Amino acid sequence: MPASSSVLPSVRLLATGGTIAGAQANHARGYKAAAFSINALIAAVPQLTELAALDVEQVAAIGSQDMDDAIWLRLAARTQATVDTPTIAGVVISHGTDTMEETAFFLNLVVRTSKPVVLVGAMRPATAISADGPMNLYNAVAVAAQPAVSGRGVLVVANDEIHFAREVAKTNTTQLGTFRATHRGLAGLVHAGRLHLYAPPVRRHTSDSEFSVDGLSSLPRVDIVYAHAGMGRELIDAAVRAGARGIVIAGVGDGNLAAPALAAAAEAVRAGLAVVRSSRTGGGVVERNIEVDDDTLGFIAADELNPQKARVLLSLGLTRTRDPLALQEMFFTY
Ligand code: SIN
Repeated sequence: MPASSSVLPSVRLLATGGTIAGAQANHARGYKAAAFSINALIAAVPQLTELAALDVEQVAAIGSQDMDDAIWLRLAARTQATVDTPTIAGVVISHGTDTMEETAFFLNLVVRTSKPVVLVGAMRPATAISADGPMNLYNAVAVAAQPAVSGRGVLVVANDEIHFAREVAKTNTTQLGTFRATHRGLAGLVHAGRLHLYAPPVRRHTSDSEFSVDGLSSLPRVDIVYAHAGMGRELIDAAVRAGARGIVIAGVGDGNLAAPALAAAAEAVRAGLAVVRSSRTGGGVVERNIEVDDDTLGFIAADELNPQKARVLLSLGLTRTRDPLALQEMFFTY
């Protein structure tokens, strides 16, 4: 519900770019992400002033395909500083939808807070016919300003839905309903700023997380290797040679991979890398020791995490330990 103007909560908007800030030269096709500043986006939604007292900071101006560890570390630091400011009720982060699920999960693991942290994006550029950004932004600010949202971890708001960072995945290249939560469902709904919250998440996050970016200037390199019929070992060997400290296999089915690739992955473990088996299917749990003998080969099963989220958790896990069993426990915990 819109707050009364005398008691408006303070919400900070951290902008990173994306299609929500995108502009088209031609309304039929093509656009440039991150063309508009956050101030221009806010000016397009004057109703925001009924929800919160906003202040803004442009942290980056990129298409989210260019999101990287350096920006993640900066964004985590700015988010932490913001939530540590006593007068701030919540944070909204504008972000491209392509890698939003990874950034959301990263922040969900490293930002220590119970305050609302909400990522928002859009599938259509700001200049498109029926752009979705303005309503998504309005809803995201409504969620971030709402104390009842506290303790639910980092959230993603788009298309009238509220998603948990751990559960959300982009599943469609263009449609507005691209975000889905296959395993554990929605965090809630938000319709024209009115919230309907569902059950809180059960896995550890934010204030309950063991991970931190304090003192980090980089993250351990983790590569994703996509499995397929006729897969060889070359890409796994290339990841080892490139200096990866971990590899996530986007495996076929239950996180499986062809015999030559399996042998290369086992060698990578013996060389000191951590190897996680995830699945390219887009749903389901990868369990230990079903078709692949994880105990013998030293692999880690991704549990419910898709390859791109497994990559985030493995990279942060490697800041703590290289022990495959300790890393496995993290995949059962977060
Ligand atoms: C991006 O991720 O920056 C481009 C796509 C989008 O925001 O929808």
